[in-house]
Amino acid sequence: MSQPTIESILQEKRIFPPSSDFSRTAHIKSLEDYQKLYDQAQANPEAFWAELAEKELHWFQKWDTVFDWSNPPFGKWFINGKINISYNCLDRHLTTPRKNKAAIIWEGEPGDSRTLTYAQLHREVCQFANVLKSLGVKKGDRVGIYMPMIPEAAVAMLACARIGAPHSVVFGGFSAEALRDRLIDAQAKLVITADGGWRKDAIVPLKPQVDKALADNACPSVENVLVVQRTQQEISMQTGRDHWWHELQKTASPNCPAEAMDSEDMLFILYTSGSTGKPKGVVHTTGGYNLYTHITTKWIFDLQETDVYWCTADVGWITGHSYIVYGPLSNGATTVMYEGAPRASNPGCFWDVIEKYGVNIFYTAPTAIRAFIKMGDQHPKARDLSSLRLLGTVGEPINPEAWMWYHEVIGGGKCPIVDTWWQTETGGIMITPLPGAIPTKPGSATRPFPGILADIVDLEGNPVADNEGGYLVIKYPWPSMMRTVYGDENRFRRTYWEHIPPKDGKYLYFAGDGARRDEDGYFWVMGRVDDVLNVSGHRLGTMEVESALVSHPAVAEAAVVGKPDEIKGEEVVAFVTLEGTHQPSEELANALKQHVVQEIGAIARPGEIKFTDALPKTRSGKIMRRLLRNLAAGQEVSGDTSTLEDRSVLDKLREGN
Ligand code: WT7
Repeated sequence: MSQPTIESILQEKRIFPPSSDFSRTAHIKSLEDYQKLYDQAQANPEAFWAELAEKELHWFQKWDTVFDWSNPPFGKWFINGKINISYNCLDRHLTTPRKNKAAIIWEGEPGDSRTLTYAQLHREVCQFANVLKSLGVKKGDRVGIYMPMIPEAAVAMLACARIGAPHSVVFGGFSAEALRDRLIDAQAKLVITADGGWRKDAIVPLKPQVDKALADNACPSVENVLVVQRTQQEISMQTGRDHWWHELQKTASPNCPAEAMDSEDMLFILYTSGSTGKPKGVVHTTGGYNLYTHITTKWIFDLQETDVYWCTADVGWITGHSYIVYGPLSNGATTVMYEGAPRASNPGCFWDVIEKYGVNIFYTAPTAIRAFIKMGDQHPKARDLSSLRLLGTVGEPINPEAWMWYHEVIGGGKCPIVDTWWQTETGGIMITPLPGAIPTKPGSATRPFPGILADIVDLEGNPVADNEGGYLVIKYPWPSMMRTVYGDENRFRRTYWEHIPPKDGKYLYFAGDGARRDEDGYFWVMGRVDDVLNVSGHRLGTMEVESALVSHPAVAEAAVVGKPDEIKGEEVVAFVTLEGTHQPSEELANALKQHVVQEIGAIARPGEIKFTDALPKTRSGKIMRRLLRNLAAGQEVSGDTSTLEDRSVLDKLREGN
């Protein structure tokens, strides 16, 4: 099984229309209804979004202008509107029968579990918001969150949102170094963590990593650390700086009205990898993000009042922010949180959770699906998955074989699949089927969500013909678009708005993905066109891994490329030249892999280190990654090699292969 190739998906002709049973009760019931919404939104986007904002959300004060694009590419939505996303996710449900409905169902990896109703979650969030206040956190202060997948992670996010302190969640699999860089960039005032978390049958130590990140006063902005007790191993607590969550929570008042935030106040920063330099802090604001994640969750996952909804992402990624926490809770849904990951020791773990809680809507990543295919059909077949009515995927292109397996073995042939294309930067899902309306084709994310003007263009911004590849762009702003790169407006402009320059004064958002559109208007996303890898659905900049490698004393130069991988989609392969008298060895290769893990985290561990005397470069000194990609994949070097400075480098690399 491999990534879809142009040839394989050009031949993909299967079409799966939604069943009439599904469509009958769906929020959006037919292609005509979808088309109507789409046309309406295109004709008057402001009226479209304003009507939804009014109908779907609670505002302390209504906006006076829907959208301001007077200073592109810096857009603003619902200007002067006052809103709080924690209020929309909690308080407003308490006066409805949802009050005692499960908000979060949590399943720990060792098999422990908890359920929090809306009333309970509200109380926890209010108390914790008061804990934050008691430690001096004020509106506008940034808070770092470095936690396992436990309910307290959602409580922490919602409490920050409640008092207007933007959070910056750092995935618990990132190293102390990566955490430190992010805390420094965000100038975080406080960090929320846990002693550890469970992952693949082992305890991942978190607090020790925080200690390491903060050592030698490396992050002087951080004044306090709050620690949840999860795994109970011995950790050190620094007097004055470190506090136990449960101790402060016990005595905190459950009374904490939600702060009326300006619609454009920052809600969170989330770091993501780019093609150059260090990860960038993607900034999302309050009103537009709340609206867009709310309405996409409702329509794309076709949420009904009694549904149990489960998204398997981690809150450290945007999927966890938008589709575990904010979108589902804003809709008053029951959202499942699972601490574990697919692992050989428990090849049925996902299916157990579905059976145990009667999950109706299930949203996961192609890499997980491929891992489960490999573990065998006997595991899902031994569970009762009949509660499922809708399936979703996200993170990378899904190969049609994996799509078909998901459809048949997990969905029993009856569940629509929503293949959702989006990014950290877009805040919410952009291209996707609406499951009661749009017939699906395996491997295609199908059509843009109403209000999203997606197109495929060449580098001059000219639309390309049907079935011709090009760059995926969005031609009109949408409410949850990122507002800027934290602290670096120029990088925001450069990365997203200048690769393809504005055309006739119109700005095109450059997604960094290659795609094609077929004769039915369906989008087929092919993958990144920049130096960004997608390893198990996680974004990784080649430059980031290269800088980690060259920070090792033995390494002179490094070039990192992706190699197709059956399960992960892509695997990191590093070509390395050595400093001075260092000699290639398996030991050194292992040490370098470990060094990358320490610098970035396990997700960046190279699968292979290839030592070489020299890297293939152009005469102007640019590394020719294209050639290295061919070599890593064991393919013949294709395309033009005439710009190579020294052809013998290539010959030697071939021999070494
Ligand atoms: C990149 C964004 C947003 C959720 C998780 C990843 C790739 C994402 C799909 C899909 C093909 C996809 C793109 C995109 N991607 N979903 N359904 N089909 N590719 O967020 O880390 O910001 O990565 O993931 O390449 O640009 P992210």
